[in-house]
Amino acid sequence: MTRQAKAPSTSRHSATFIVSFIIQQLAFVQTCTAVTVYYQAGQKPLGGTATDTGVAARYTGAAAYNPTTLNPPPPPGPDALPTQFAMQFSNAVPPGASIPQSGAFFGFSIEMSVVNQVLGKNSSFIQVPFLNLMANLQQRSGRINIRVGGNTQERATLVENTTDGRIIEKDLAGIINPTQTPPLVFTPELLQLLRNISNLVNVRWYLGVPFNDTSNFRLAIAERGQQILGDYLIGLQAGNEPDLYVDHGHRPQGYGPYDYFGEFGMLVQAMAGDEHLVNRGLLIGPNVNSGPWSPEMVWNTGFVDAYANNLAYLAVEHYPTDNCYAQYGVGTPRDPQETFPNYLNHTAGQTLIAPYLNSSAYAQTKGKPLLMFETNSASCGGFVGISDSFGAALWGLDYGMQMAYSNFSGALFHIGGQNVYYNPFTPEALGPSNTTQVLDMSANNNNIYSPVYGIYEHGNLVRALLFNYVTDSTGASDLNVELNLSGTQVSGEVQVKYLLASSVSQKGNFTWAGQTFGGMFDSDGRPIGTESVQTISCTSQSCTIHVPAPGAALVFLYPSSRSDTAGAPSQTFSTSARTNTHNTATVDPSVLATSNGHSGMDNKLGSTSEGSVSSAETRYELFIGSALSLVLSVVAGWALILGLT
Ligand SMILES: *[C@@H]1O[C@H](CO)[C@@H](O)[C@H](O)[C@H]1NC(C)=O
Ligand SMILES: *[C@@H]1O[C@H](CO)[C@@H](O)[C@H](O)[C@H]1NC(C)=O
Ligand SMILES: *[C@@H]1O[C@H](CO)[C@@H](O)[C@H](O)[C@H]1NC(C)=O
Ligand SMILES: *[C@@H]1O[C@H](CO)[C@@H](O)[C@H](O)[C@H]1NC(C)=O
Ligand SMILES: *[C@@H]1O[C@H](CO)[C@@H](O)[C@H](O)[C@H]1NC(C)=O
Ligand SMILES: *[C@@H]1O[C@H](CO)[C@@H](O)[C@H](O)[C@H]1NC(C)=O
Ligand SMILES: *[C@@H]1O[C@H](CO)[C@@H](O)[C@H](O)[C@H]1NC(C)=O
Ligand SMILES: *[C@@H]1O[C@H](CO)[C@@H](O)[C@H](O)[C@H]1NC(C)=O
Ligand SMILES: *[C@@H]1O[C@H](CO)[C@@H](O)[C@H](O)[C@H]1NC(C)=O
Ligand SMILES: *[C@@H]1O[C@H](CO)[C@@H](O)[C@H](O)[C@H]1NC(C)=O
Repeated sequence: MTRQAKAPSTSRHSATFIVSFIIQQLAFVQTCTAVTVYYQAGQKPLGGTATDTGVAARYTGAAAYNPTTLNPPPPPGPDALPTQFAMQFSNAVPPGASIPQSGAFFGFSIEMSVVNQVLGKNSSFIQVPFLNLMANLQQRSGRINIRVGGNTQERATLVENTTDGRIIEKDLAGIINPTQTPPLVFTPELLQLLRNISNLVNVRWYLGVPFNDTSNFRLAIAERGQQILGDYLIGLQAGNEPDLYVDHGHRPQGYGPYDYFGEFGMLVQAMAGDEHLVNRGLLIGPNVNSGPWSPEMVWNTGFVDAYANNLAYLAVEHYPTDNCYAQYGVGTPRDPQETFPNYLNHTAGQTLIAPYLNSSAYAQTKGKPLLMFETNSASCGGFVGISDSFGAALWGLDYGMQMAYSNFSGALFHIGGQNVYYNPFTPEALGPSNTTQVLDMSANNNNIYSPVYGIYEHGNLVRALLFNYVTDSTGASDLNVELNLSGTQVSGEVQVKYLLASSVSQKGNFTWAGQTFGGMFDSDGRPIGTESVQTISCTSQSCTIHVPAPGAALVFLYPSSRSDTAGAPSQTFSTSARTNTHNTATVDPSVLATSNGHSGMDNKLGSTSEGSVSSAETRYELFIGSALSLVLSVVAGWALILGLT
């Protein structure tokens, strides 16, 4: 859906706050004041214990801004990577292609406790870089799905007011021991914030019903959520990673899939008796991690049939690995440099998805969409040097396409706050038609460094996405891929957009079709520069596509297969704003050790700026952490490319 321009609106409560935006067709124009990003040097990782445990400890700023750069793996050589190969495409969708996918396939998951860092302070103070990024994605994909939740949702309680007037507060009185995650209280203003965002950009929300007390469900988030968000509320998670409840001390030993089945039923019953609920069919389960339960253990309880009327989505959560040791001194130490190659080939995404192929097939038989509800490069905040690197951008793009190909119906990349290296990228590849089908072409004899996906819309081949995971500045590892398009309507030429950087270890300044989100501290959520799209001439419907090492190339077979603004017209938000911040609480390492969220909480930002003018009006503290700065480059990469056109 598209939205029209609105007049600038001004907060009644903050003279310094102005949001205005301009809708433009086909181009981003730099009409807005530059944004200065502040970050705090000298900041230690939260959690207390990580003072001398690895790379993360040596840099003491917030994780999202850590400049550590790794070495790219050496080129594998011509035997491991044949650089010239041909691919035969048919116009019709071949057997084995995915179910139809939406351009909103790639979404975000935001830990509830950091909503005020990433999204905004209240309904009249929305983070502008976030809006710009969302507008940019919407332009390509039509809409963006975002989950607000995580481990912190389980004990969150809606209150009418907080003592300090903020939309989220840690209930310090609720802490039983000093290392425990404080429960959150939040106000309806948080929901109003989400609603106001949706008034500006087409963002749809998933929330979570607190599941810590199943004899006394706190349904207020569902009631008020439905009331305030209306159709913008698309799902309600019931239980976050219940297979880890025992490990986290949230349920007694022996708690198993049948217990979860029973508790889910109690929720369904509680909701049935709640007259304030309009829609009782929005639930999402079982949200198991790769913990002690396989998804099948839950399917085999009869869960999906029993609750078919209440389940909007089935979901799992999964991270390839964790970096908890470096961050919190718990778990297995992992060296980022040694871990890096694990992200730099096609096997990575395939391996992550393999345990879920049976579940995605099962979900199809039940007519329910399956979501990857929370994922990213590594839990406990990701890895220094990896998670915000160009290599991670390629990995995320490939992993995302692999999930689409494997019949997931959506994937949410998790943003835990400032102390993460996360990075999501991807919607232009899929486009906004809702008919997109994806096929992993097993290219180059299934070569792990050079995967290729075919992308179909309305039953016809429209795009191809080609990767080169290798870093090699000599050009010897550049690919030349001959696409044989003889079965298609292609005549004369095709167009190509490139995702490029000089090395898989580069952070920031990645370019997508010549545009960039800038360097490490630069981004305000808008791509900078002039878009450049390459035209490649074809001979007898055979087109040779060059893929630099490293890089990715999205090939558009027809002018009509470009979807730069197919999702919505372009729009840009600008602001001037100034906020205060304050420091807070500790985080329970046992919670963080498993996958999640990594509650960066309210780290202090502020101190050094980069670049721009710093009058009070133009200064703007970005609480976006990995989501909107470094991560912007990467995420934007994925989001753009996946939704990207
Ligand atoms: C919203 O947050 C901003 C920034 O913290 C603050 O200045 C403003 O007073 C808040 N508005 C309301 C209505 O609380
Ligand atoms: C946010 O929502 C409130 C309540 O509907 C409204 O009064 C306010 O003007 C909105 N703010 C913005 C910036 O849209
Ligand atoms: C659930 O969490 C709420 C909010 O922290 C707390 O008041 C309540 O006691 C908890 N219930 C159980 C059974 O742990
Ligand atoms: C508490 O919240 C109510 C309802 O939103 C509001 O009318 C009232 O002014 C608030 N009280 C304080 C002290 O902020
Ligand atoms: C696939 O999942 C179904 C449902 O849980 C289960 O019955 C079946 O055994 C699984 N198949 C495999 C190969 O795991
Ligand atoms: C490719 O990635 C997989 C999965 O992460 C990893 O196990 C493997 O070692 C990688 N292969 C190479 C050659 O780096
Ligand atoms: C995805 O679903 C389609 C349609 O059911 C099926 O043909 C295809 O094999 C599935 N793909 C995977 C990787 O399971
Ligand atoms: C795609 O699906 C979404 C959600 O159902 C819908 O809002 C949108 O209008 C659809 N887009 C098209 C082009 O059909
Ligand atoms: C392309 O494929 C068609 C059909 O298989 C084949 O006849 C033709 O020779 C191929 N063209 C090239 C340039 O390889
Ligand atoms: C990014 O590009 C800017 C402008 O060209 C340059 O000043 C900066 O050093 C680059 N940063 C990186 C990490 O390459």
